[in-house]
Amino acid sequence: MSILELQGVSKKFGDFPAVNEFSLSVDQGELRCLLGPNGAGKSTCMDLITGRQKTSGGKVFFKGEDITDNSEHKIVRSGIGRKFQVPAVFPHLSVEQNLEVAFAKGRGPFAAMGVFRRTLGHSNRFDEIIEMIGLSRRLEDLAGLLSHGETQWLEIGMVLMQDPDLLLMDEPTAGMTEQETLKTSEIFNRLKGSHTLIVVEHDMSFVRQIADVVTVMHMGGFLAQRTITEIEANPEVRDVYLGEEGDH
Ligand SMILES: Nc1ncnc2c1ncn2[C@@H]1O[C@H](COP(=O)(O)OP(=O)(O)OP(=O)(O)O)[C@@H](O)[C@H]1O
Ligand SMILES: [Mg+2]
Repeated sequence: MSILELQGVSKKFGDFPAVNEFSLSVDQGELRCLLGPNGAGKSTCMDLITGRQKTSGGKVFFKGEDITDNSEHKIVRSGIGRKFQVPAVFPHLSVEQNLEVAFAKGRGPFAAMGVFRRTLGHSNRFDEIIEMIGLSRRLEDLAGLLSHGETQWLEIGMVLMQDPDLLLMDEPTAGMTEQETLKTSEIFNRLKGSHTLIVVEHDMSFVRQIADVVTVMHMGGFLAQRTITEIEANPEVRDVYLGEEGDH
């Protein structure tokens, strides 16, 4: 069953169509990779799903409900979490405090007043998330002291603390070492099934580690949708994307 549907969505910046009548359907529990060259419209698509940008046309449905005109805040509350291209952790708070703040953001003011500690303490979910992102031993450390990879994992943990049904991840492995990228693929493979994920990524070795079905965008529109193996063999995709910089 599909959890997310984009029906011919468009976004114009002035006269420029950054996203152009793009349709996408993602099933519950699926991990979908969204690929395409720089400027193809991938991040803008995420902006349209999360209400950060208003559409110029088309509709967005989440869990069967039309969310096209909903506010960003309301969309987060309805169960869509997002990790941006640039990590946004609070460097002067500890790892644990960052996760608490993220929990509060997903729940509103009551959580912000400490309901997190009183009602949940270190709940199963907290323990599960902290173990999954591999930061159990860093709980008291300031987030500003984490390595680049650890910071990215903390941010993934922060999105998970909001308990989203759908997670949007924009270039989660950017700047990571090969080892860190591998660990990130393990996290994503664990999340599959219990969560629905849309992952934008340029690192093809990472995409191979996590992907089932891949959707490729080009110039704001749909180019192809197949398994990763078929996509990598597709001449049109190779032409506009995979071929362009040799070994993506
Ligand atoms: N706020 C904006 N105002 C004007 N143009 C924009 C804006 N945001 C994006 N664009 C343009 O829309 C197009 C799509 O941008 P977008 O960031 O969605 O691409 P992308 O597929 O995420 O690329 P990348 O892989 O480089 O992150 C680009 O040409 C970009 O310059
Ligand atoms: Mg982008």
